[in-house]
Amino acid sequence: MTPAVKQTASGRIFNFSAGPGCLPEEVIRQAQQDLWDIDGTGIGILEHSHRAKTYDKVLAEAEENCRKIGSIPANYKVLFLTGGATTQNFMVPANLLPDEGVAAFLTTGYWAEKTWDESKVYSGKCYEAWDGRGVKHAYCPADSEITYRDRPVYVHMCTNNTIYGTQWRNADGSMRLPRVPDGVPLVCDMSSDMYSRPFDVSKFGLIYAGAQKNVGIAGTTLMIVRDDLLKPVRKLPTMLRFDVHAKDQSRHNTPPVFAIYLSGLVFKWILKQGGLEAVHKANMAKAGIIYDVLDSVPFYKGHARGDSRSLMNLTFRCPTEQLDDLFVKEAFKNGMDQLKGHRSTGGMRASTYNAFPADGCRALAEFMREFAKRNG
Ligand SMILES: Cc1ncc(COP(=O)(O)O)c(C=O)c1O
Repeated sequence: MTPAVKQTASGRIFNFSAGPGCLPEEVIRQAQQDLWDIDGTGIGILEHSHRAKTYDKVLAEAEENCRKIGSIPANYKVLFLTGGATTQNFMVPANLLPDEGVAAFLTTGYWAEKTWDESKVYSGKCYEAWDGRGVKHAYCPADSEITYRDRPVYVHMCTNNTIYGTQWRNADGSMRLPRVPDGVPLVCDMSSDMYSRPFDVSKFGLIYAGAQKNVGIAGTTLMIVRDDLLKPVRKLPTMLRFDVHAKDQSRHNTPPVFAIYLSGLVFKWILKQGGLEAVHKANMAKAGIIYDVLDSVPFYKGHARGDSRSLMNLTFRCPTEQLDDLFVKEAFKNGMDQLKGHRSTGGMRASTYNAFPADGCRALAEFMREFAKRNG
């Protein structure tokens, strides 16, 4: 494709990608240096052994800062796994769901559908306590819309629905959690809003997130898991066991050293921004710039219902598909890339993860107003 015409001051364009998403500039610059020589060792991060002292430090710092950001209680392990969030669609039930056991699923979007589908490999008795297909996944349900039948061994939810652009949230953008039966652990796919706002880890039994949106790059999956859930309910191959990864501190085999190192840099960056309160404030402001346009220019139609609007993935359409295509093409010429919605939903999607700059949101809002004027 021809390069976009307008660029930012740094020479890059605004990358609205839903994942892998944009990274903080200072993280990329640091990684550039460390590729050649990390910590004056004369060896780059890509070439260090995962048993070497340099990597011991990288891993220890990554875990320490991850714990600091999330105020993770001592009875939770932080793991860096592989296989993406998708692997957790079978790894979680493999470890937690006994044969013919029951787990309940809150199906709020495309990825939550995939998680629900995969549970059937382990048990035919699972059920959906909420099925959002009928409402085109336009919102996350109220407690009154969630129906638990048999007592589940866990409830699965996805806090941010990357494709439909919805999020479990309160009016102030803080995390809203569903009601779960007393004492039942909540298992959460937090892939697309991990560490984008404050939350209470102790409300969850297990959290996982593919790193490539808010906490790093593809290659590692961050997991925060409560100690009592580590032991598998069945005999499993070694690499599938949470307790093995916990005991071996996420290096039972050769881990994705660079991906974990990069998450470590992102954690440092989040702390430098002022932690989760600060990034959340910035994310609210950024999303507000674009939602203001959706609310004031009737040319556009947002997919998410107002109370479930995602602060991470903002989905909208023009009046026709032809105009959607034109919008994406013209935005690209104006230095804004990756705005095409997911193939399953169409329209546009602007992903504004932690590292995405407010200037990019302003540029998009200005372009949206101008495009609507010309084509409305
Ligand atoms: C919420 C959510 N869950 C799961 C996935 C799948 O992640 P992975 O590609 O790491 O398997 C994605 C990817 O976009 C996602 O957004």
